[in-house]
Amino acid sequence: MAKKKMKKILVIGSAGQIGSELTMALRKKYGNDNVIATGRKTKPSDEILNSGPFEYIDITKKETVEEVIKKYDIDTIYNMAAILSAVGEEKPDLCWHVNINGLLNILDLSVEYKLTRVFIPSSIAVFGPETPKENTPQDTILKPTTMYGITKVTGELLSEYYVRKYGLDVRGIRYPGIISSETLPGGGTTDYAVEIFYEAIKNKHYTCFVREDTVLPMMYMPDCIKATIDLMEADFKKLKHHCDFNVAAMSFSAGELAEEIKKYIPDFTCEYKPDFRQEIADSWPKTIDDSVARKEWGWKPSYDLSSMTKEMIEILQKRYEEGKL
Ligand code: SER
Repeated sequence: MAKKKMKKILVIGSAGQIGSELTMALRKKYGNDNVIATGRKTKPSDEILNSGPFEYIDITKKETVEEVIKKYDIDTIYNMAAILSAVGEEKPDLCWHVNINGLLNILDLSVEYKLTRVFIPSSIAVFGPETPKENTPQDTILKPTTMYGITKVTGELLSEYYVRKYGLDVRGIRYPGIISSETLPGGGTTDYAVEIFYEAIKNKHYTCFVREDTVLPMMYMPDCIKATIDLMEADFKKLKHHCDFNVAAMSFSAGELAEEIKKYIPDFTCEYKPDFRQEIADSWPKTIDDSVARKEWGWKPSYDLSSMTKEMIEILQKRYEEGKL
């Protein structure tokens, strides 16, 4: 009997906030040598470099992706490379180039090389000021005001087009702000919800770049990884949506997060000095209705504000005491 071919997975953006932890979770699940980590600029962690293959690629240069697909006989891609919302406002051309031209390269190569599955992340940034802010529905007004949001709506529509036109299996989630303890996020509007933990532990003080009453949807990294892998393992035939699933875990204001941290670090203080990112935050929803993801592929989060904060503080405090923060 022929041996079943192992899945060969390409993770693009392995040095990034989500990509770094996703790579390790996939290696644990599918075997170190079956998960090819890739990145463009930043060196990935030693953990990634020492546990399996790593290649340099740039999604805006199609041939660099094609070489890796051929070399490893790739059948699944997780495209975690993106320019996020804050950097996207400073460099809108670059944001479009990476998020759209890069995405097109991935989609075209996936059709050309008959890949079995592709993951294309989306974001709560697809929503805009006219979208209902509370319990934002799955199918609603998508008129974002940021370049990042515009690329994410375009990405959802393009990916869905490849599902219909070429029968490509593409899936994606609208991530909320992701909070994690391993790799810092870079260039996003929700970054304050991660930075606040590092500053609380190191300096007992944080200057937050959004107002105290700013509420945004957030998720802790273990739930983000679970959502990503669960959606990729779901039965495609049961999915009515593909590239645009709302997922929710928790929503809180910046002030509520600071209060939660104070339970562990009583002398922590937070001041609020909103900058240009306030306007971006104000254009996004406060809470998300994820009932479609729950119904179509069984999504359910495990962490809320209090369990996430407890774990973040424990992990970062330990690293600080070891002199590694
Ligand atoms: N966390 C992202 C950002 O703030 C949203 O997807 O840009």
